[in-house]
Amino acid sequence: MKSIRAISHVIFVVFFLSLGAWCYGQVEFDVAPMEKAEQQALYSTIQGFVGNSWNGSDLYPDPCGWTPIQGVSCDLFNGFWYVTVLNIGPVHDNSLICAQNLEFRPQLFELKHLKSLSFFNCFQSQKSFPITIPTGNWEKLADTLESLEFRSNPGLIGNIPSSFGVLKNLKSLVLLENSLTGEIPPNIGNLIKLKRLVLAENYFTGRIPDIFGGMSELLIFDLSRNFLSGNLPLTLGSLTSALKLDLSHNLLQGNVLNEFGNLKNLTLMDLRNNRFSGGLTLSFQEMYSLEEMVLSNNPLGGDIRTLKWENLQNLAILELSNIGLIGEIPESISKLKRLRFLGLSDNNLTGNLPPKLETLPCLNALYLSGNNLTGEIKFSNEFYGKMGRRFGAWNNPNLCYQVGVMSTSNVPYGVKPCQEEVNLLESSKKTEVLHGDVNQESNSIASIGFSSDATNGFWWTFLTKVLLMGLFIDYYII
Ligand SMILES: *[C@@H]1O[C@H](CO)[C@@H](O)[C@H](O)[C@H]1NC(C)=O
Ligand SMILES: *[C@@H]1O[C@H](CO)[C@@H](O)[C@H](O)[C@H]1NC(C)=O
Ligand SMILES: *[C@@H]1O[C@H](CO)[C@@H](O)[C@H](O)[C@H]1NC(C)=O
Ligand SMILES: *[C@@H]1O[C@H](CO)[C@@H](O)[C@H](O)[C@H]1NC(C)=O
Repeated sequence: MKSIRAISHVIFVVFFLSLGAWCYGQVEFDVAPMEKAEQQALYSTIQGFVGNSWNGSDLYPDPCGWTPIQGVSCDLFNGFWYVTVLNIGPVHDNSLICAQNLEFRPQLFELKHLKSLSFFNCFQSQKSFPITIPTGNWEKLADTLESLEFRSNPGLIGNIPSSFGVLKNLKSLVLLENSLTGEIPPNIGNLIKLKRLVLAENYFTGRIPDIFGGMSELLIFDLSRNFLSGNLPLTLGSLTSALKLDLSHNLLQGNVLNEFGNLKNLTLMDLRNNRFSGGLTLSFQEMYSLEEMVLSNNPLGGDIRTLKWENLQNLAILELSNIGLIGEIPESISKLKRLRFLGLSDNNLTGNLPPKLETLPCLNALYLSGNNLTGEIKFSNEFYGKMGRRFGAWNNPNLCYQVGVMSTSNVPYGVKPCQEEVNLLESSKKTEVLHGDVNQESNSIASIGFSSDATNGFWWTFLTKVLLMGLFIDYYII
């Protein structure tokens, strides 16, 4: 908006100048009117961040007019121009670049119509020039400020000032990838107009405060990559508009809330790399909008068959690796027609792989390694070809692939051929008799495919189980 205004302004000025030069042979400047105090506050604020050698009145005599400053936008209020947006940091080639030794000047808080304030890559040195967020004066921006952002500032240390709680019109608070510490102040809960709250990649500690009861407009909630601990606060269940909930990479523990079932619009839930326990929460199956469910690396436990997976028809990414799941992979997962990624590695899953997983039309990654799956994988050669390295099933000692169907280029990594098992048993008198028949049978099954005659298929499954489990034959009969 600003740049369009600036460009049209420049065009107008150039037009005016050429016209003036042509008609009267003199030059006249059209200056965007600003209150002196506003203009001085802008220069001083910026000078505090970029250093004393920056002379605003010299370089940018008309900051809201024909000498626009990169990162500064203005708007007209009652015939005067005011700064509404201030972005500090190297976003564009000619952006305002922060000095090493910089300061927040009190003039920042004199910008009467400031709506959006952001610092990107500005506070660089945690060792030499650490800087904290000022605690006072925020109330002066309370009526206007809608967006406040500190992003990628390793030299920004200290706590979130609890005075942020006065910024009642804030719609977006982003404190991403800084070196902030301490607890999340409870009066952040006053910011009930927030649509985006991102406090990710800092060093925040303590529990997540139970303050979200009023935040029914929040769309994006991201506390990932901190050191937050303790149980989840119940009011997270009040974030009924939320689209994205990311609590990954913390030290959170306890059960995942039943109240998550209220989050009917949630598309992303990322809880990976925490200490959650208590199994798969039943209310997960009511989160009908979920497109990405990521729970990996938690001591969650429980049976994978607990949930009615078929309810989650929008799931595209289901990542359940290393969460201590037991049970057999339910066929209901093969009803998730939008699934692209299925990660079930490093659990305690048992039983056979449902061949129907192959029918998932969008699936392009399937990871099953490090489980206790057994028997023959009954996928087609085309499926292995399509998946390539994105089919991972190694470290399942009792799993094997069927030799007959497989072109050698598609052999799944780390999985042994069922044939080897048969060869191992060759010396056994009982199998020696069957051996020739088995090979023929396996070839004919391969060409018929999975939809072959049911009784034949059943017989074959039974036979292979007996053969594969050779040594465990007694166990199986029991
Ligand atoms: C900036 O430049 C103007 C004119 O060139 C000069 O009068 C003023 O003292 C300078 N201000 C600073 C802060 O250096
Ligand atoms: C959920 O999304 C729908 C469709 O986008 C919207 O109409 C509805 O208001 C949203 N619900 C909440 C609680 O925000
Ligand atoms: C699987 O179960 C065994 C025994 O119950 C346990 O020792 C092991 O840690 C479990 N493995 C995983 C990956 O959960
Ligand atoms: C697989 O199952 C066996 C017994 O059924 C058990 O001893 C072993 O710990 C399991 N392996 C893993 C990786 O869970």
